[in-house]
Parts: sequence; C-alpha cells; structure tokens
Amino acid sequence: MPRRPLYTYLMLALLAALLAVAALAQEAPEPTVEDDAMQRLLARFSDHPDHFTQTSGEALYRATCQACHMEDGQGDMGAGAHPPLTDNPKMNSRHFVAGVILTGYHGMPGFADVMSDEQVAAVTDYVRSHFGNDYPDMITPDEVANLRPPDNAD
Ligand code: HEC
Repeated sequence: MPRRPLYTYLMLALLAALLAVAALAQEAPEPTVEDDAMQRLLARFSDHPDHFTQTSGEALYRATCQACHMEDGQGDMGAGAHPPLTDNPKMNSRHFVAGVILTGYHGMPGFADVMSDEQVAAVTDYVRSHFGNDYPDMITPDEVANLRPPDNAD
C-alpha cells in the first residue's frame, strides 16, 4: 500500500471535526418564537416552570388563550391575526379544537407538553360553551389522550 502524505490525514481529521460541529449544531436548535411565547406565559401565569397548574377551563383560558384570543374570545385580526373563537364554525368540532390546543396551529403554540389531558379537555369545553358558543358535546380526557401526537403520549 502506498504511503499517503501526512496532509491527507490532516485533511481527513479536519473534515471529521467539521462534521462533528455540524452535527452538534443540529442537535441544539435555536428556540422558536412559539417556545419563547410559552415560556413567558408559564413565567407569568403558572406556579410551575414546566406546566400550567390551573384546573378549571376558565382559569386555563385566562392564563393561556386570552393573551392572543382576547378576553371574550373575540380574537384580534390586527397585525397578529388571532382568529375569534366566537361565531366561528370551526368551534363545532371538539376534536378540532382540542387538536389545535395540543399541537398548535401555524402561529399558535401547542400546549401538549404543558397541559394534562384533563386540562386540555377543560379548556376545550370552556371555549365551546362560552363567548356565545353553546355546543353540548363535551370532550373527555380519554379522547384528548387519543389526540396527542404519538411522541407526546404519557
Ligand atoms: C401566542 C398566541 C396564541 C395563544 C396563547 C393561543 N392561540 Fe389559538 N391561535 C393563535 C393563532 C395565531 C391562530 C391562527 C393560526 C392560523 O390559522 O394561522 C390560532 C388559532 C386557534 C384556533 C383555530 C381557529 C380557526 O379559526 O382556525 C383555535 C380553536 C384556538 N386557536 C384556540 C386556542 C385556545 C383554546 C387557546 C388556549 C389554550 C389558544 N388558542 C391559545 C394564537 C394563539
């Protein structure tokens, strides 16, 4: 086997180091805007840094949804474009509403990591029975559990 010059090995070592740095950079992504919004909500409205502690639908709404969807669910279609939760045919489906709360929706952060099945059910039922909404079918915590993304199931 012919001897390879030393610089070949140096180049290979350099390449390996670059690949390692690239891999590390991928493992630690920059926090997203949504994550920041969630951290701010938790810091302001929860007694716990990792999850919300409120249990009633109303308290959860005030702590989490109100910042964007406003006090009476009327939304705010200004610069932020937060849709209303009232007079909105999409509220018809409890699975849609709970799914949006769990996984988020475009500019809205998901709450799967910071709310239990009971909490997601409570706030889903709250928004579907207030602000002029009067949907009779409530969602159960078991149904919420089934809507969780696979990597988020408890
Ligand atoms: C940080 C802001 C923010 C928070 C907090 C937030 N939302 Fe949203 N929400 C949005 C935005 C923005 C959209 C619209 C996403 C899109 O369509 O681009 C949205 C969409 C929705 C929709 C779908 C409505 C539609 O017409 O498409 C529902 C339902 C909803 N949010 C419920 C909630 C509930 C319930 C909470 C509290 C658990 C909540 N949101 C918290 C910003 C927020």
